[in-house]
Amino acid sequence: MPAHESNKVIILEHPSGSKAEVALFGATVTSWVVDEIERIFVSKEAKRDGSKAIRGGIPICFPIFGAKEKIALPQHGFARNNYWEYLGIVNDNDEVTVRFGLKDTQIPQEARNAWPHSFRLTYTVSLTEKSLKTVCHLKNEDEDTFEFNTLLHTYFRVKDVTQSQVQGLTNCEYIDKVNASAKLIEENEKVIIDGEVDRVYKKVQDKILLEIGDGSSIQIEKNNLKDTVVWNPWIEKAQAMGDFGNEEYKNMICVEAGSVADWVVLAGGQTWTAGQTLTVV
Ligand code: BG6
Repeated sequence: MPAHESNKVIILEHPSGSKAEVALFGATVTSWVVDEIERIFVSKEAKRDGSKAIRGGIPICFPIFGAKEKIALPQHGFARNNYWEYLGIVNDNDEVTVRFGLKDTQIPQEARNAWPHSFRLTYTVSLTEKSLKTVCHLKNEDEDTFEFNTLLHTYFRVKDVTQSQVQGLTNCEYIDKVNASAKLIEENEKVIIDGEVDRVYKKVQDKILLEIGDGSSIQIEKNNLKDTVVWNPWIEKAQAMGDFGNEEYKNMICVEAGSVADWVVLAGGQTWTAGQTLTVV
């Protein structure tokens, strides 16, 4: 079988040898192996029992990014904190594709009160020899318009984060969340990590490149998502997180495709589709 379930995790296996794993909790991709190398970071301290969002992988932030004063939801919303339904294999020819679903009736009443909208989210994960594609389809099942943010909070595994670089953000305006939410313009051709970084780059081109630092790179191609967040907690924030090892900041970089700087507006009855394709190049 190109995909099977084991302990609430869906395991995808491509004939080329590439593999991926998706936890039903949050529909969080927790592993992506190409050329026998793990490309995704998950903390050794991550909770895997559904008590907390998984620290690492590709958690889905929805319907908010960060915390919103007027919406009483946990940081980054409820999608990463709930079990999704496994909807099965969609394709097992040249790519292995599986699908997951989450709707308002599957989330706790408290969250439904905080964000009182009827919705249906479908998430497809497709694996090929060198790529992993993750796509969200959202249907507004209300008559009224609603607003949301979403983000694919991708944690990439790197050997030494100070050697990794992100290309393609030059000239983008960004909000620097470390430096009192200052608004700045990226002047560098390559963004490097040599301290705490937490930036929301706005209106980013669809294809950017993460150089891992060991000679390999991952192309990140987003579709219908405007922004890119770059995050590394560095030393003090790493120590403050209960589900993250003190030294693990050295082995990860988050490059997160999303629409977070402005609300996405979806009219009643309408659907919205967006996602990303990660390719080892
Ligand atoms: C990033 C945010 O996307 O996620 C950071 O920009 C935040 O501000 C980080 O610290 C991790 O968030 P959380 O809720 O998973 O600890």
